Amino acid sequence: MDRRLFLQNAGLALGVSALTNSCSTPETTAAALDTWEGVRAQFPLSPGKLHMSQMLLATHPKHIASEIERHRKALDADPDVYWEENFPTAENIVAAAAGKYMSCLPGEVALTDSTTMGLATVYNGLTHYFANAEILSSTHDHYSTEKSLEFATRGANTTIKRVSLYTDPAKANADEIADTVDKNITPKTKVLALTWVHSSTGVKLPISRISEVVRKHNSSRKEDDQVIFVVDGVHGFGIDNIDIEKMGCDFFIAGTHKWLFGPRGTGIIYAKKKFWKTMQPTIPAFSMIAYGSWLGVVPADQEMTFTDYLTPGGFHSFEHRWSLNVAFEWMMTLGKDRVEKRTHELSSRLKNGLKSISHVKTHTPLSNDLSAGINCFDVEGMKAEDVMKKLHDQHHILASTAPYKVTCVRLTPSIVNSDEEVDKCIKALEGIKE
Ligand SMILES: Cc1ncc(COP(=O)(O)O)c(C=O)c1O
Repeated sequence: MDRRLFLQNAGLALGVSALTNSCSTPETTAAALDTWEGVRAQFPLSPGKLHMSQMLLATHPKHIASEIERHRKALDADPDVYWEENFPTAENIVAAAAGKYMSCLPGEVALTDSTTMGLATVYNGLTHYFANAEILSSTHDHYSTEKSLEFATRGANTTIKRVSLYTDPAKANADEIADTVDKNITPKTKVLALTWVHSSTGVKLPISRISEVVRKHNSSRKEDDQVIFVVDGVHGFGIDNIDIEKMGCDFFIAGTHKWLFGPRGTGIIYAKKKFWKTMQPTIPAFSMIAYGSWLGVVPADQEMTFTDYLTPGGFHSFEHRWSLNVAFEWMMTLGKDRVEKRTHELSSRLKNGLKSISHVKTHTPLSNDLSAGINCFDVEGMKAEDVMKKLHDQHHILASTAPYKVTCVRLTPSIVNSDEEVDKCIKALEGIKE
């Protein structure tokens, strides 16, 4: 593609020196990351509080904050020039870092602003595929999945079948979950819409097991009649050492502004290459190649990657979007396996402590295979919001309640927390009673 021609056609000017898009983790920071105290010191979290609701919205470690600041300053100083210089490559740099983190092709990753936007984009983009057919989903999914499915199926004569994958979440079982999915896929099912970690119970679904079930059904189906497996992955992403190919799903959506500690207002959509053609974009992309083909300076039949045609265009908070690669790099510097081990250690410590309190009923399975960092529970005879308030007012512990029709209290330890903080939560709950 003739970049200069495209830029001229687009009415854009060249002529400024390029600014780098990526900055590697400085050595001083890398050394500081050897201990969990050092990791915690990277975050500007208010002291004197126990931050146990990171699953909602990330705080940024120094390194990511300074990358955002670097882009912000440059955009403030010269927005048009800085954008011109960086837009042709910045999103691909982010997609490449995401691909490295997830073990997939860079082009298989499109950027989005949140899990919610990603889910809506994917389901809306598959409307023609599931028209007059059936979507299999569950009763455990978040508002963002339910509403995205509802909006995308309007007028499409699509049935959404929601099944329960477990009755008692604490006793959830991988075989039972996989069997339930298996039994409920019918010849009419075109999409399987599930969530990796349920924010209502903390249950983590065995995604690779479920992918095997889907593969079994697909083996006897034609290429244009495959069951497409879509996963809202937000509450496992940034915790479990992800290898997306091993997970085996076709689409995977995750906000990167929660457990990954990435810039607020960022996220990713992964799509297996073979499904690119199945997917219809909703928001026009502003990539060189997508815009260039509209301008007629790129051949209309030139193949576009998923990054190129699905990343939503329009002018954005680029200081955030363009800093996301640094969040992936930062996590890889910490060590994906180390982060997984640490988060599970803290969660297990918490779950075991809560289990020993007679007036606390835990809802999240003890097994690391069936849980991640969300720990859900209730205190006998008390409303979830009253427990949350007491944790805050009496102990400065920031918990959350699950925003579902049936709610519960959630404590979500992450790499910013210590063993002592987890123990303080357990001690506090020993004293919070009806
Ligand atoms: C399971 C699940 N999916 C999606 C979302 C929405 O995420 P986002 O803020 O990235 O849109 C949430 C909210 O925390 C959630 O719990």
